[in-house]
Amino acid sequence: MPITMRQVGPCFAAEVEGVDLGKPLSRDEIDAVHAGMDRYAVLVFHDQKITDEQQLAFTLSLGGIEHSIGTSLRAPDEYRLPTTFADVSNLDKDNKVFARDDRPRLFGLGNRLWHSDSSFKVTPAKYSLLRAVSIPSKGGNTEYADMRAGYDTLDEETKPEIEELVCEHSQLYSRAILGFTDFTEEERLRFKPVRQCLVRTHPVTKRKSLYLASHAGGIVGWPVPEARAFLRDLIEHATQRQFVYAHKWAVNDLVMWDNRQTMHRARPFPANEPRDMRRTTLAGDGPTATQAAA
Ligand SMILES: [Fe+2]
Repeated sequence: MPITMRQVGPCFAAEVEGVDLGKPLSRDEIDAVHAGMDRYAVLVFHDQKITDEQQLAFTLSLGGIEHSIGTSLRAPDEYRLPTTFADVSNLDKDNKVFARDDRPRLFGLGNRLWHSDSSFKVTPAKYSLLRAVSIPSKGGNTEYADMRAGYDTLDEETKPEIEELVCEHSQLYSRAILGFTDFTEEERLRFKPVRQCLVRTHPVTKRKSLYLASHAGGIVGWPVPEARAFLRDLIEHATQRQFVYAHKWAVNDLVMWDNRQTMHRARPFPANEPRDMRRTTLAGDGPTATQAAA
């Protein structure tokens, strides 16, 4: 059966049928997945009863991966999953739900703010692939915003104004929005800001998109309050409901999105219920901007 894609909701998300991610994909199937990502930016695969190893194998068939090392507040001996996965669950290494005030949980709540994965890394992520292993009884949707639509609908004065702007991204900034600021010196160094351009051009389609995230806490050369007010306005603009697809998870769903063309956020769910989500991440091609001198 050939791969088919059916648009869902706004025009940037599609459901994919006719593919079993538990089996190696043919070259044609891999090309179809990449072409679908270029066109839509969010692809939904339902009913994929696959193991972690099969998710990883599928991810590697699409390109090189990003490892999750030092990007959360889990201590190295507290990891539940290997570093080939980003653990987006609310579970500790013994698969127990975090206590409400556990530090890794509170840090992880930053995922409820609009963001693009790994925009706080010098080379930010290309695709993310998130698989639902267990889900809460209610809530916990993931929402996606199409940042190409966000760019396209800017007024004609704003487009040239932002064309060359460079932002500073750090998890310190996104967490500060939620009032999480008690970082150690080691953590502050580990999470030090990186630079990302604000407007990205897709290498294949040449479409432009806003590259925003709650991690963006400054614009190079701008006073901080002015930059943050401006970035807040841009995020508000880009996340209007007509640009948003809300994914309601079912167990064994795998959703793949292009971090270069979209933002996303998790929605709340009961804090005492497990939500086991496992992410593999495709590495980006390289930095989007020249970094500050060390
Ligand atoms: Fe994320």
